[in-house]
Amino acid sequence: MRIPFFFVLLMLCCGINAVASSAPDMIEYPSRWGIISFDHQEHQRRAGECTVCHHQGAEMGACNTCHGVLPTTPIHKDVLHKLCKDCHREKRGPTECAGCHDPEHVDESVFQDN
Ligand code: HEC
Ligand code: HEC
Ligand code: HEC
Ligand code: HEC
Repeated sequence: MRIPFFFVLLMLCCGINAVASSAPDMIEYPSRWGIISFDHQEHQRRAGECTVCHHQGAEMGACNTCHGVLPTTPIHKDVLHKLCKDCHREKRGPTECAGCHDPEHVDESVFQDN
């Protein structure tokens, strides 16, 4: 069967829009250091491309679909620390623990391994 080119384009656009419109505005991670509030919408603008973070494509689902699950993928916390802090070092986002972790919960003596 021959599929007209404009139809393929239409499907591509709708597919991408469906993912974009389901993108959350804010993401809240619970952690032992309190909730980390991550402004997803603002970060979409800051990063420019979805694939900066969704390196397999946003339609592949949450990071922990693979990370911490598949044997070859590093655990979720390490992956997020690397991604978040690398860009923050470069573009002057927060890099101190309390910049992301709820300051009321931060007790630097709790963690030696980070
Ligand atoms: C600065 C990093 C970053 C950028 C840029 C980014 N996202 Fe995300 N996005 C995340 C993180 C982190 C999550 C939470 C995933 C999880 O729960 O593990 C998320 C979650 C989502 C979700 C909820 C479903 C899911 O996969 O968990 C959707 C949909 C999504 N993003 C779409 C997009 C789209 C579309 C773009 C580009 C317009 C985009 N994101 C750009 C980091 C980012
Ligand atoms: C479909 C599976 C899959 C999904 C979904 C996925 N990843 Fe990955 N990720 C991998 C695999 C496999 C690797 C290791 C191989 C590689 O570097 O591509 C990896 C590697 C990484 C690395 C490099 C780690 C290092 O130590 O160099 C980062 C950072 C990363 N992922 C972040 C994320 C973030 C953030 C999300 C969610 C927004 C995400 N990934 C979603 C499969 C996935
Ligand atoms: C592509 C670069 C980039 C990535 C990746 C990124 N950030 Fe940011 N983030 C920024 C920049 C730039 C700022 C500072 C913006 C300002 O001060 O105007 C920032 C600021 C923040 C702030 C302060 C509040 C705010 O939104 O201004 C938090 C919290 C934050 N980021 C959390 C995260 C987390 C958690 C991740 C990983 C899931 C992450 N960021 C990944 C670029 C990035
Ligand atoms: C740029 C934002 C950011 C900064 C800065 C940051 N973290 Fe995190 N941290 C996160 C995110 C996002 C997670 C993932 C939470 C999850 O997996 O649900 C996390 C998770 C963790 C966890 C795992 C929490 C748990 O409940 O298992 C520990 C421990 C941790 N961070 C310690 C630290 C320490 C120590 C510092 C300072 C040296 C630090 N973090 C700085 C964003 C940040």
